[in-house]
Amino acid sequence: MENFKNQLSYEIRKTYSTSNPNLLNLSDLNSFIQFGYPEDVIAEYKNFTKFAFPIAYPFKNIRVKGSTLLNLGSGIGLDSIAAVREGAEKVIEVDISETFILEGIKHPNIMKIIGNIEEINFKKKSFDIILMNGSMNIILDKLSLISKSNYALKSRGLLIISDLFTEHKFDECIKDIDAWCWCLGGCITIDKMIAIAEKEGFLLLSKEEYEQVEKFKRVRFLFKKC
Ligand SMILES: C[S@@+](CC[C@H](N)C(=O)[O-])C[C@H]1O[C@@H](n2cnc3c(N)ncnc32)[C@H](O)[C@@H]1O
Repeated sequence: MENFKNQLSYEIRKTYSTSNPNLLNLSDLNSFIQFGYPEDVIAEYKNFTKFAFPIAYPFKNIRVKGSTLLNLGSGIGLDSIAAVREGAEKVIEVDISETFILEGIKHPNIMKIIGNIEEINFKKKSFDIILMNGSMNIILDKLSLISKSNYALKSRGLLIISDLFTEHKFDECIKDIDAWCWCLGGCITIDKMIAIAEKEGFLLLSKEEYEQVEKFKRVRFLFKKC
């Protein structure tokens, strides 16, 4: 397990790097708009979008104004700048990729941390919103991360999770590091995601299911800390 963990974090760093010549480019500008990203944000930051891998626009129907937001597995920070545009007061973003953090989108209201979200601990009740857009499936110990998120959220804080989910248990590529990096190896069922969050003291507020590709569905969950 420890071996797999170390290998995975090495491969994630190798995969999500601006210097990776084989980095997949999964989305064109239109697909960002289809995901719900504001057109002006995409137009302004279009040079960054080849390094962005969101699952869905996180903030649809969510009040972000005035919030302190933690963006876990932020990548180059497209959601961080979108949050600032939606009125977030302060965004802290964390990513294991040094190049994504250092060369990503910069703004005075966005603080950047290079680090492994499985290892960093945050202060109790310090955030209004925690976001994971395409990073939950790369995490080995999901329960522990959800528990840490609960600790770091203020009362009635929001947890937004967007990722690929299945209807039925999926463990075909559970040992495939490359599949883990691309959110498939660690994919769980929709029911399991809800069960983990509820076990850790969250209430499901909404679940938006988007298109299905083979066994995988893009889903955005919105949970509230009880
Ligand atoms: C699919 S990408 C999504 C990036 C970003 N949220 C976006 O929408 O563009 C997954 C991101 O999670 C980061 N990541 C994966 N595992 C991580 C970990 N354990 N700690 C910190 N970042 C991690 C990767 O470096 C990558 O930037």
